[in-house]
Amino acid sequence: MLYPLFEWHGVGNGMLMAIIATYHILPCHLATGAFWITYFMERKAYQENDLAMLEFVKKYSLLVLIFCFVTGSLTGAGIWYAATLISPRAISGLIHNYVWGWATEWVFFLIEIVTIYTYYYTFGKISRKAHLRIGLIYAMSAWLSMVIITGILGFMLTPGKWSETGLFFDGFFNPSYWPQLFVRTAFMFVVGGSYAAIVASFLKDPEVKSKAMKVAAKWGLGGLIVGGLFTVWYFTKIPATAKTIIFEDLAFTKTMFKVAIGTGVLLFIYFGVWGFMKSKTAGPIPAIIAMLVLFVGICAGETVREMARRPYLIPGYMYSNQMIAKDMKPKGVKSEVARFNKEGVLKNYYFAPDSVKEIDATNFMAAGRILTKLECISCHTVETSGFFSIPKLMVKFGAKTPEEVYDFLDALDDYNYMPPFVGTEKEKRAVAAYIASLVNPDQKADPAWVLGK
Ligand code: HEC
Repeated sequence: MLYPLFEWHGVGNGMLMAIIATYHILPCHLATGAFWITYFMERKAYQENDLAMLEFVKKYSLLVLIFCFVTGSLTGAGIWYAATLISPRAISGLIHNYVWGWATEWVFFLIEIVTIYTYYYTFGKISRKAHLRIGLIYAMSAWLSMVIITGILGFMLTPGKWSETGLFFDGFFNPSYWPQLFVRTAFMFVVGGSYAAIVASFLKDPEVKSKAMKVAAKWGLGGLIVGGLFTVWYFTKIPATAKTIIFEDLAFTKTMFKVAIGTGVLLFIYFGVWGFMKSKTAGPIPAIIAMLVLFVGICAGETVREMARRPYLIPGYMYSNQMIAKDMKPKGVKSEVARFNKEGVLKNYYFAPDSVKEIDATNFMAAGRILTKLECISCHTVETSGFFSIPKLMVKFGAKTPEEVYDFLDALDDYNYMPPFVGTEKEKRAVAAYIASLVNPDQKADPAWVLGK
């Protein structure tokens, strides 16, 4: 293993990814969904010669441009930086498979950037037909970037035939590809509709406001209904173990699932009430609350999707701690689990100092510390007050002494959502000694026990 470790103390690497990635979903789905709404609104406004509506479309498109192309680009690049720092080996694996996928996506990004600026700055200055076409080119290229990225995202949950063949399109058109694409396509309209409702809620003229609110609500409601149906389809395509993790193993994913459904219901009510019944008087506060509710729903939904991937980064191939779980024959990559169990993890970890590669009575705590970080901090923190804190979870589980922690590590295979412990007998005991010292700093493991004497 050739990469150094990154650790965000107390907060955790998973949380760092979650914060950036969940936020990114708002601007990126807005960027893909909003211009279908503007396209149809603009076309209708031309047909009816409705200048007030055109003014709304212009304002909305500017606010989409600013929001998406500032925060969306920052967080989009942020995801790459964070993911590369946290899981360099997984990103390397993805790049080796999908570099041309991303290259294609970036072509569409470029078209998006050029067309959105052209669209805004040519408003009212070129023929209506040409202007509409620019909007449509933007909408299509933005959606096509989703068509591509969904292939790679879906691959990370359901790699399908790729696991046997290693071929690009076997991984890309994976079992959850189509349902996920349709779910995202539907929900991008919900994001677009919510944002349009915020912009509309600031309009002064009650007639224009009402018209714009209705359009926003129609897209929002449509997206919610269709997206909900596709979500059901999506759940039929994810592996049985993933469903066990979500609905049986982990209480908080079950809660998150309920939260996601609850936010959908609240948004449904919002669009129904403020989009139709109170469309003339709809103010910014309910619109902003609706956007916050939507954000909570996205957080919850994405948490569920991410947890379903445990204990892998690339299912069946690479664990969350970046160890290779199984042979990948087409790529000539061999499983590391059996090899590391025999040879030791530290001997195979480039960044482990030479002084810990051979475990003895003087260095086992240092060795245990490095191993714990290597194997566990992709999902946990070691600080007592941290998120998913190992010492806290150990106490809850009832393992406090080195021997009890050892037994826990020995039985890690029984968990659906955690990788097995990898390493030699001595390494396992060194980790047990280190974790027991996190639970109780006064507790010192007996070196003879660690060394198996
Ligand atoms: C792929 C992510 C992942 C990795 C890697 C991982 N865990 Fe976990 N672990 C989890 C999740 C998720 C939970 C459930 C947390 C909860 O219930 O709040 C958990 C729960 C636990 C628990 C509580 C178990 C119980 O039954 O109550 C302990 C203790 C624990 N982990 C220790 C470890 C140790 C030690 C390592 C490293 C050897 C490790 N974990 C590696 C994801 C992981």
